[in-house]
Amino acid sequence: MTSLVRVPAPILPREPRVRALKGLVLAGGKGSRLRPLTATGAKQLVPVANKPVLFYALEQLAAAGVTEVGIITGDTGPQVEAAVGDGSVCGVRVTFLPQPAPLGLAHAIVTARDWLGAAPFCMVLGDNFLKRGIGPFVDGFAAGEGDAQILLKRVPNPSAFGVAVLDPDGRVRRLVEKPAEPISDLAVVGVYFFGPEIHAVTATLAPSARGELEVTDAIQGLIDAGYDVRATVIDDDWVDTGKKDDMLEANRLVLGTLGRRIGGEVDAGSTIVGEVMVEAGARITGSTVRGPAIIGAGARLADAYVGPFTAIGANCRLSGCEIEHSIVLEGGVIRAVETRITDSLIGRDVVVERSPLKPKAIRLMLGDHSVVDIA
Ligand code: DAU
Repeated sequence: MTSLVRVPAPILPREPRVRALKGLVLAGGKGSRLRPLTATGAKQLVPVANKPVLFYALEQLAAAGVTEVGIITGDTGPQVEAAVGDGSVCGVRVTFLPQPAPLGLAHAIVTARDWLGAAPFCMVLGDNFLKRGIGPFVDGFAAGEGDAQILLKRVPNPSAFGVAVLDPDGRVRRLVEKPAEPISDLAVVGVYFFGPEIHAVTATLAPSARGELEVTDAIQGLIDAGYDVRATVIDDDWVDTGKKDDMLEANRLVLGTLGRRIGGEVDAGSTIVGEVMVEAGARITGSTVRGPAIIGAGARLADAYVGPFTAIGANCRLSGCEIEHSIVLEGGVIRAVETRITDSLIGRDVVVERSPLKPKAIRLMLGDHSVVDIA
């Protein structure tokens, strides 16, 4: 039977279990769907509530007791390494594992093979976001449940994902990567548990039609070889943050949990409503912030309105403008824009200024260092 698991929020790191798992986090790949934002930057570093999405994966591994973590990197490796450092910022010890080219999720396992050795491991896609973490799944696998474990989620658009068919007893029977005709509505979530047997399968894989070694094919190989591959259908909020609206969704999920903390300066002419985090060094004058929202360190708001589900990054400058349900990355400037900005993802150091044109709403997806003059 498929098990529905309610996952509590991760609280404190646990002691590593007897069958000590390693973590393998994938932060390579191309990120083409978030262009231009990720044409030059790693998509795993795009912030959710002012923290790189990758950090949530690392922190959730740490909270589940998995502290030895390998990170697969690609072209954006130097940025990922600079952001993560030795991993202590997220409570893990990190080894970077450069992948020569983004040849697929199973190729990432091949890349990590020497580092993994004979250890069982939890593989997490660095752009996936699970709200309540992975603790119970780590515990179950570490306790010996199955030879491999995957997480599944019912979705309305299965063709965008790997898709699974289960036996009546909840074991995985069949997996297909992004099927044109969906074989079920159970999408494969980017969290996988494997033992060392997987290496014998990945060694035999051939590239798929899209030229990648698919992890779905590797799992199918385990099933075909008679291994016990289990699945848990989750009811947690899960976001594959590949696109702008997915980033906004993840942002919305996290902001709703942050609570209220005013660490910066707020003048008497400003109103802060509800769950708002104002980080140290931020200054808010003559403005209204209606949560849930976060205002990053060193940001300046003057005569501005920041509405629900908005993350304003560190050192942003907002004046004479209104914005809601949006993410503004570090250093963004929005000045004298009369129309409310909504549903937008605005890259680092982007400038948005007023111009004579008056659209009623502005929807933007802007690359790092873009400048927009709204005429
Ligand atoms: O998000 C869940 C889906 O992730 C699953 O349902 C699919 O079965 C699985 O194939 C994967 O599909 P995506 O098309 O979303 O994978 P993407 O190419 O976006 O890569 C996922 C992460 O892995 C991303 O952070 C980049 C990284 N990556 C990707 C490739 C292809 C690597 O580090 N190396 C790679 O070679």
